[in-house]
Amino acid sequence: MRYHLTTFGCQMNEHDSERMKGLLESLGWSEAPRRDDADLILFNTCTIRGSADERFLGNLGDAKRVKRERPETVVAVGGCWAQSQKELVFREFPFVDIAFGPGEVARLGELVARERIEAVGAFSFDGAFSGGLPAKRERPHQAWVQISVGCNCVCAYCIVPSVRGRERSRPPAEVVGEVEALAADGVREVTLLGQNVNSYGRDLPREGRATFAELLRAVAAVDGIARVRYTSPHPKDMRADVVAAMAECPEVCEHVHLPAQSGSTRVLRAMRRTYGRERYLGLVDRLRAAIPDLSITTDLIVGFPGETEEDFAQTLSLVEECGYDGAYTFLYSPRPGTEAAALDDDVPAEVKRERIQRLVEVVQRTAAARARRFVGTRREVLVEGPSRTDPARLRGRLRQNITVNFTGDAPPGALVEVEIEGSTSTTLSGRQAGVPAKPEVAVPA
Ligand code: SAH
Ligand code: SF4
Ligand code: F3S
Repeated sequence: MRYHLTTFGCQMNEHDSERMKGLLESLGWSEAPRRDDADLILFNTCTIRGSADERFLGNLGDAKRVKRERPETVVAVGGCWAQSQKELVFREFPFVDIAFGPGEVARLGELVARERIEAVGAFSFDGAFSGGLPAKRERPHQAWVQISVGCNCVCAYCIVPSVRGRERSRPPAEVVGEVEALAADGVREVTLLGQNVNSYGRDLPREGRATFAELLRAVAAVDGIARVRYTSPHPKDMRADVVAAMAECPEVCEHVHLPAQSGSTRVLRAMRRTYGRERYLGLVDRLRAAIPDLSITTDLIVGFPGETEEDFAQTLSLVEECGYDGAYTFLYSPRPGTEAAALDDDVPAEVKRERIQRLVEVVQRTAAARARRFVGTRREVLVEGPSRTDPARLRGRLRQNITVNFTGDAPPGALVEVEIEGSTSTTLSGRQAGVPAKPEVAVPA
């Protein structure tokens, strides 16, 4: 039996997809290279913006074609779009056999078995978390570790709380146990995952509870783990104890993804982000003061209802003031059921497009200037594998989360020193210390 899985959306979904693959493979399934060869066509969907829906629906059309040609194919749709469309999905898309939400990954085997009348293995799992399931990791030396699911924030534009539910934290002992098992399996770098990682733990019973800062320290202390990352924190929950844990644990990397969304206090208030521009800038100052050589990345939304040219100018200046190493920029798109969907989407499409272009230019200029600080220095790099653009070279990442393509001979998973020789706004290039610039030509004996 063969499956084909397509993943959309954020790291949460990518991680859930690793669990889906692991679950199916533990039941004897293998991966099919194309949808046409698959007995099970599976989608893990996103619905964060209108464009995410459109991208997925194009792919779903392809599954419909396969199903027409081979009616015995099972089509299964999981993830956030599936959750948001639960009532509609079978009516609107009658060729879909299975629909399941992000909290039901663990039931996938059972659902598929019911459809295919196959034997299901026994798993013990907690419905909301995919953490107890087998995983098929994309990279042997790096792993995602889910620490919480759901989100208690009420960001006016965001559909995540309605599809992922209230925040629920995994007990710290379970998280640390998973990290220990990963380390024993050769993992060097873990990324702690949650919609709002730094509000972690508040929902746990008092005994056995940990704060996010305590969890960071516990994970960093696991033998064999060389690098710890996390995403995404909410600026409102970035307390001094988290900054201190970052500064004091050598394993916690010098990078923070700190979504700002806007540089205008007025817009931030309308978005219900619960911080203003000055508080955000104060936080950036404290982070920079405590953690030398920190990289900061962010998410920014352009064209939220009521955003004026003056508001937008504040977002541009925020990018300059913060000196971001990178930013994801999004055109605001109304999502059904959110608070902002009831507001007039009054920034014209062409104004949104023109603003995002200007924003991207500033982001690229800032990121390119920031990346130049690495050129001429020697940096620790975790080797990930061959470079995507030139398979004769290697690819890895700095602690600051920037990709570097370099000449070298180290195996994946190795930590090596790389002399950084060049930079763009998104990548670096260099040479592993001690490896000659050009591979030596073998002299025939
Ligand atoms: N929980 C994470 C990620 C949320 S989704 C966090 O809070 O950082 C990733 C990004 O998508 C958000 O940070 C936001 O910038 C963007 N986004 C979410 N809803 C959106 C919408 N309706 N329109 C445009 N961008 C949106
Ligand atoms: Fe959405 Fe806000 Fe929660 Fe992030 S913090 S998932 S943007 S509601
Ligand atoms: Fe998308 Fe769901 Fe992630 S809506 S961004 S896949 S939490």
